[in-house]
Amino acid sequence: MIENLRDELLVWYRINGRSLPWRETKDPYQVWLSEIILQQTRVNQGLPYYQKFLEHYPNVKSLAEANEQDVLNDWQGLGYYSRARNLIVAAKQIVNDYEGQFPDTYERIIKLKGVGKYTAAAISSIAFGERRAVLDGNVFRVLARIFNIDNDIAASSSRKIFQSKADELLCKENPADFNQAIMDFGAIQCTPKSPACVTCPLNQYCQALKKGRVSELPIKIKKLKRKTRYFHYFREAKTNFIYLKVRGPKDIWQGLMELPLIETQNEELMLTELNSILNTHHQPELEFYKIHKLTHQDIHAKFYKILGEFNLPSNYIKVLPEELESKPVPRLIDEYFDYIGV
Ligand code: ADE
Repeated sequence: MIENLRDELLVWYRINGRSLPWRETKDPYQVWLSEIILQQTRVNQGLPYYQKFLEHYPNVKSLAEANEQDVLNDWQGLGYYSRARNLIVAAKQIVNDYEGQFPDTYERIIKLKGVGKYTAAAISSIAFGERRAVLDGNVFRVLARIFNIDNDIAASSSRKIFQSKADELLCKENPADFNQAIMDFGAIQCTPKSPACVTCPLNQYCQALKKGRVSELPIKIKKLKRKTRYFHYFREAKTNFIYLKVRGPKDIWQGLMELPLIETQNEELMLTELNSILNTHHQPELEFYKIHKLTHQDIHAKFYKILGEFNLPSNYIKVLPEELESKPVPRLIDEYFDYIGV
């Protein structure tokens, strides 16, 4: 089955593969240049840059001797400028360590500045025919679907699983074409959204299609950055009433009730904010402080009592301590109520 799959993919590539200038050559310098430009860049966007770079810096030596400002200038518009700076450093490495001869094995190529696993596999297979299977975004998607792999493609622990599938599928006689075939296949046929499964030459082998899971795969779990927020809550200590209002949409605790709140950008609460929001001139007295951890947020919550009256908008309700039981509040506020004994 895997042999047929591999052959079908190569047949597909011969008919549908993109004709790209770096595919006309086995010159490792040109392959390297194209692969660095195509990191984080679409083929159509990268193409004119590739041509310009080859014109301005036709070989390793000319790039090693180039002026950094000129190179950065030529790179303008591609972004991730460290790629351009690393190109020069790597060109110098090749001149100094390999007498200007591009290193010809994966193990040596990966030592070049700015070259990682993907790029080393791409160059060594495309330029030197080494049996190294590439893994990039397109390849992850194609493999996840064909083999119905559930592992998170963003997790480093999944790499082994995908790499072993890619190694197994790699065409040992023609790794150069195979690697480019699977990348093009991902870019053209097995696209992220609305892949062309009906006309897909691999559809009979596709486990995800069989299970109706094509649109679910690959699984990529986005890591949300933790956010720190600073909440200041108030109660009026002069009367016995607790003021509460319902939290609005598009934020945590939607529909739950909470005390009068001022959210600040850091730990500090400005008295002017307090005065303008609560309409009071009395000093707040800190009663309770807690860092409350939610899934993606740390809430630094301070609870104050104020020995004066508030003047709050009409969306607040006034509640007696004995009525609090029936009001839905976040756990954090419940803990505070327990602490002050209401
Ligand atoms: N993306 C980056 N390099 C590629 C290549 N050589 N073929 C297809 N897609 C690519």
